[in-house]
Amino acid sequence: MSLPRPDLTTERLHPDDAGIARGAEILRAGGLVSFPTETVYGLGGDACSETAVASIFAAKDRPSFNPLIAHVSDLEMARAYAHFSDLALRLAMAFWPGPLTIVLPLRKTSKLAELTTSGLQTVGMRMPDHTTARRLISAFGGPVAAPSANPSGRISPTTADHVIDGLDGRIDAVIDDGNCPVGVESTIVGFDGDDVILLRPGGLPIENIERCLARKLKHPTFAMQEGDQPIAPGQLTSHYAPQATVRLNADHALPHEVLLGFGPVKNAAENLSQNADLQEAAANLFTMLRRLDATRKAIAVSPIPDHGLGRAINDRLNRAAAPRG
Ligand code: TXA
Ligand code: MG
Repeated sequence: MSLPRPDLTTERLHPDDAGIARGAEILRAGGLVSFPTETVYGLGGDACSETAVASIFAAKDRPSFNPLIAHVSDLEMARAYAHFSDLALRLAMAFWPGPLTIVLPLRKTSKLAELTTSGLQTVGMRMPDHTTARRLISAFGGPVAAPSANPSGRISPTTADHVIDGLDGRIDAVIDDGNCPVGVESTIVGFDGDDVILLRPGGLPIENIERCLARKLKHPTFAMQEGDQPIAPGQLTSHYAPQATVRLNADHALPHEVLLGFGPVKNAAENLSQNADLQEAAANLFTMLRRLDATRKAIAVSPIPDHGLGRAINDRLNRAAAPRG
């Protein structure tokens, strides 16, 4: 496998019947199609094909120890590949379609590629709350493995232009359906007996999950040793990194910086939300980080409250600010 392929032009598809049909055809042929979800654009390939999934890793230059999320169009498709406990079913019924990935035990008969799950006996599954995504998966007829459609370690894409910026000539197509409304990746949970473990804060606030289950989520207690297999991408330090250095909890920009504001702050180059609305801030986060990064200045960021979607935003910002490996 050798990517980028010099012969490959990335097709830009419309989210209409013809575009969906073309996307499904490319997936069936083992190709890669980027598609919009409510969180970020995904880089999709046939989750049951080792070669398709291998080319996802190649296109992203991604360290191949990370398992991918298998995206489904409906619960029936999910249950054909994974076992749902009562607890898991409750979560799926409450929050699917939506920005929640549930890590589930794999069925013995599952035909998912080993590379999709990294050889684990579990699979992370989610049903995106986006009509175009679900139509594509359903037209393809099986689960679609998809990480975010950006080169490994870079900012996640929330428009088709972002996808093209990073992956033009490395993937077969992108379905252009505008902005991703949520703007940060899905929340990921797993199970340990009766405990529900938070593996990554994301687009579904933790408080909503805790209210639904009437119990607290557990936080993972593992410590990441050098060379150990990470359980969720959160453990890779400098993930979601802009080129610029990032300084958090800033009340103003220093001379060499631009300010990414939140709330009614003065002199912000960009403001995630003038009204301090966390949902609006999440939807703006990656686009604004990209625009500020293009100024080639360092980025100072206003404090963001650490509840609801603020947790996912702070998680991504902490990673952007982490020392680079
Ligand atoms: O919103 C999202 O989740 C986006 C869109 C495209 O759906 N996808 C996304 O994928 O963020 P990605 O690959 O960047 O992050 C998925 C993470 C993996 O890095 C992995 O750590 C975790 O999900 N994951 C997947 N399967 C897992 C498993 N079986 N056990 C533990 N973690 C798993
Ligand atoms: Mg990603």
